[in-house]
Amino acid sequence: PIETITAFEALDSRGRPTVGCTVVTRGGARGRAIVPSGASTGSHEARELRDGGERYGGYGVRRAVANAEGELLDAVRGIDVTDQDVVDRALREADGTADGGRLGANAILAISVAAAQAAAAVRRLPLYAAVGDGLMTLPMPMINIISGGAHAARALDVQDFLVVPVGAATFAEAIETVARVRAATGDVLRDRGATWALVADEGGYGPQLSSNREALEVLSAAFDRAHLIPGDDIAIAIDVAATQFHSASDGTYHWQTEDRRMRSAELVEELAAWSADFPVVSIEDALAEDDWDGWRTATEHLGGIQLLGDDLFVTSPDRLRRGIAEDVANAVLVKPNQIGTLSEAREAVGIAHAAGYATVLSARSGETEDHWLADLAVGWNTGQLKIGSTMRSERTAKWNRVLEIERELGDDIALARPMFGRGS
Ligand code: PGA
Ligand code: ZN
Repeated sequence: PIETITAFEALDSRGRPTVGCTVVTRGGARGRAIVPSGASTGSHEARELRDGGERYGGYGVRRAVANAEGELLDAVRGIDVTDQDVVDRALREADGTADGGRLGANAILAISVAAAQAAAAVRRLPLYAAVGDGLMTLPMPMINIISGGAHAARALDVQDFLVVPVGAATFAEAIETVARVRAATGDVLRDRGATWALVADEGGYGPQLSSNREALEVLSAAFDRAHLIPGDDIAIAIDVAATQFHSASDGTYHWQTEDRRMRSAELVEELAAWSADFPVVSIEDALAEDDWDGWRTATEHLGGIQLLGDDLFVTSPDRLRRGIAEDVANAVLVKPNQIGTLSEAREAVGIAHAAGYATVLSARSGETEDHWLADLAVGWNTGQLKIGSTMRSERTAKWNRVLEIERELGDDIALARPMFGRGS
């Protein structure tokens, strides 16, 4: 049973406060976790508790930390730590709000994950084995190469241009292939005289380009330079993050780079043209979070590739069920801190798989050195994992953990082969 919780104000990779905590059981088993934090957050996400005021520009989490050690501990004290559902339900009930905002979704998730770690310790299992209950696979990585939007001072309107090493035989080979693409992309950008300031929030390049489409041309040139066959060895994924440039008042989408204003259908047409000209296998947040009509149009026109809902679904079982019922998208991005607890995120994964929707487990743009997400990707058999680039330690911490698991399990585990919309 859970006996104590110590929480602390930690820092994320943007240098902003976040919640860390340790759960200790009466028998002395310990679990520790630090939680991440997004920048291009959806409005339907669970709510972090921030202090406001002067400290850290208002981003302090001292109140969330106090809640973890106070009301939330009171709610879970004495519960068997291996009973994740019961722990998580107690956390949600203590908070009492739908979005976790009273005691803080950041405090709630920190305890939820730390409890899972403590449960793994009790059972003397690695976290991936403790959270798994069936088939385990290593996730196909989806890796950021070029960043725009909220993660790169809006150098481009589209947020992420990523690659998926679809031809890799192993996870280690997948990572190595992408590292080659990243290096080649740097060369291509230099040749084109593109400028960029250091690295973006998730470790990608944040170049000034003349159009969003140019990022795809850069990637294609990088594939050539790295001697990779587009479509066979390597493919492209895009996170449009359309909520970020959608105007709720007139319903249009505005790209500043190209000074272009589009209706939903025009944006879908543009994305369809990109998918015809480049080896695109996945498009995330093609439309804004509440543009359900636009999403239906997108699903009709782009249903042959993976259509991934991030701000659309916010890992919410309810929003995901609506999407499935209305034939919207065919895959869900899963971010545990969007919903609040591990049990709810796990439930979203189960609902998706039962409906034939693919799942991509995802980090946030504000991350930490903690790597529990990698274990969840394996144990929950999510099939895909999106962390950011192949550099910056808060990113590599997760890739490294999967590399370690692959080595540990050897032939007992295989790299997942996602269908990218072709199965649906
Ligand atoms: P965020 O972005 O963590 O800043 O919300 C990640 C994403 O949009 O996938
Ligand atoms: Zn996204």
